[in-house]
Amino acid sequence: MSHGHSAGPGAADGVAVLATLPDATWADRWDDIVVDPGVKSRLLGHALFSLTQRAGRSRVALPVSGLALLAGAPGTGKTTLAHGLANEAAGVLARRGIAAETVFAVVDPHAFPSEFLGESQRAVARLFKRTLPDLAADGRPLVVLVDEVEALAPSRHHASFTTNPVDVHRATAAVLTGVDELSARCPNVLILVTTNEPRAVDAAFVSRADLVESFDLPGLEAAQVILASTLREFGTGLDGDADAVKRLAELCVDQHMDARQVRKSVLRAVIGNGADLALSPEGLSHQDLWDAVSAGSPG
Ligand SMILES: Nc1ncnc2c1ncn2[C@@H]1O[C@H](COP(=O)(O)OP(=O)(O)OP(=O)(O)O)[C@@H](O)[C@H]1O
Ligand SMILES: [Mg+2]
Repeated sequence: MSHGHSAGPGAADGVAVLATLPDATWADRWDDIVVDPGVKSRLLGHALFSLTQRAGRSRVALPVSGLALLAGAPGTGKTTLAHGLANEAAGVLARRGIAAETVFAVVDPHAFPSEFLGESQRAVARLFKRTLPDLAADGRPLVVLVDEVEALAPSRHHASFTTNPVDVHRATAAVLTGVDELSARCPNVLILVTTNEPRAVDAAFVSRADLVESFDLPGLEAAQVILASTLREFGTGLDGDADAVKRLAELCVDQHMDARQVRKSVLRAVIGNGADLALSPEGLSHQDLWDAVSAGSPG
């Protein structure tokens, strides 16, 4: 998914998005992602610790890498919450007078084409040894997001037979050394990585993470909150009927919908029922909604 802010002038090599936080318009990326409250609290704690407390501490006595791994099925909120986390941490640091600004950088996955692993490996080395340390050099907290890390650090153990294992080995090793160097040199950096497939991520990479959080498909309670918030966003008023929302949520859970599909099922009800509704979605009827959710997810 893309989150607005594209890399502007001065954006660095291998970095797709560069933003300065906090940004009030990002609050929904934290508030509207429904996960177990423990997940948000641990992620925020780790972010604040990593961005402010690593300087001057022994890396042997306290092997903190500043790396957190967000793992889970597609559509469970990993990418969105990573953005939200960066913004939330930036907000705390700003309000407490610790840092007025936090820099947020998203690594560009297209900068490391896996067809050219030798090329990739050099680009990865450049990113971690030069580009990211340069961004961190002015001392502002820096949050780096590597989305879908299995592409960048594929498991050396499970490397496919079509790629040259020596190349996979080198590319993954370059990411590992890169992360080690970045976290050693820059105590003001937090590295967030997401994956759909934790088993496809190299074990040595996973072991460097200070925190691994798994994102699950929404259960009944989460599905109710997500449905209600989507209905509210459309201005339908249907979110006021808690019993109806609960029955719809049960349908979503029975169909093993991920959170993205839950929200899209409401969208499908709105766009599948004529021009009037598409132009005035607040007129959505309970029946149209029920039919769309019963029809299940398209994919
Ligand atoms: N846990 C959640 N709570 C509420 N909404 C969610 C949640 N997860 C996903 N969504 C909705 O789905 C959209 C897409 O989520 P996002 O891209 O963050 O998922 P992801 O886990 O990164 O998926 P992928 O693995 O496919 O990249 C969000 O913008 C939001 O509208
Ligand atoms: Mg994602």
